[in-house]
Amino acid sequence: MPSPKLSIQTTTLWEYSSQHYGNTEQGSSAYRGATPSYVIWNLLQRYTKKKDLVVDPFCGSGTTVDVARDLGRRGLGYDLQPHHSGVFKADARNLPLEDGKADFVFMDPPYGDNLTYSGRPECIGELAATDPAYFEAFEEVFAEVDRILKPGRYMAVYVCDVWKKQAFVPIASILSNMLAQRFLPVDHIAVVRGNKDLDKGNYHKAAEEENFFLRGFNHLLIFKKPEAGEVRRAKAQEKGQRRGGDEPGRGRAGDRGRRPGGPRKGRPGRPGGGRGNRGRNRNRPERS
Ligand SMILES: C[S@@+](CC[C@H](N)C(=O)[O-])C[C@H]1O[C@@H](n2cnc3c(N)ncnc32)[C@H](O)[C@@H]1O
Repeated sequence: MPSPKLSIQTTTLWEYSSQHYGNTEQGSSAYRGATPSYVIWNLLQRYTKKKDLVVDPFCGSGTTVDVARDLGRRGLGYDLQPHHSGVFKADARNLPLEDGKADFVFMDPPYGDNLTYSGRPECIGELAATDPAYFEAFEEVFAEVDRILKPGRYMAVYVCDVWKKQAFVPIASILSNMLAQRFLPVDHIAVVRGNKDLDKGNYHKAAEEENFFLRGFNHLLIFKKPEAGEVRRAKAQEKGQRRGGDEPGRGRAGDRGRRPGGPRKGRPGRPGGGRGNRGRNRNRPERS
């Protein structure tokens, strides 16, 4: 099968038919729940520049650390069960890192208890998404991200909703609302899932017969930590928009429709970084 070319995604629907790019693996496809590396590659291209410190508090097999190295960024990973030499053992709610050190934070946390990781009591993957304790854990995780991230810099959460035993839990919407209490929303991407289970006929049969939908995409929630004064400006702009209603041209003097922290005209959200390191695919994405 021909290898796909790695390129910058330019819409809010991302797709790439390989778990890895180039001739080597980033992270490990043997690690259950490993993140498709092109997702991280795209984020780092847009929101970081060379030598930036990129932190992943749920780094597992080290996909983020490997992509950061490929792009000349400094990668630092933490996990309860590290599977990479650049990933250190720590709880995402209590990271051994000083305040305001990270230039970018990426995370692909457990989606409720859909997969078994370390089995440790501190593992957030031991909590069902229907258990309020699951979301309470994220309050602490997001507070920790807020602590380590530099003002004016970005963070991204890659996550999937769950439908289990007749219950749908919109994890992404809930996390997005929680994040908006601390950070400024930048964008929301749908990432097409390449899970092999989606190729199984019996899965589709069950979805039809039991009247549910298989998860076809993951959410990528992108937020920015506000700089001093930015929250005040955002609130003032919101107030202006409310006053102007939907009528075009009212309540949006200048910079129409651009949120604070949103992309700038002509240079969509790219504080730095080049477009190098295009590669070829190896395997299909396998994230379940
Ligand atoms: C979806 S996997 C991340 C995979 C990783 N991005 C990769 O590509 O290999 C979720 C990870 O969260 C970790 N984890 C769960 N609870 C944690 C916690 N409280 N602190 C740190 N890591 C945790 C699990 O051990 C697992 O490795």
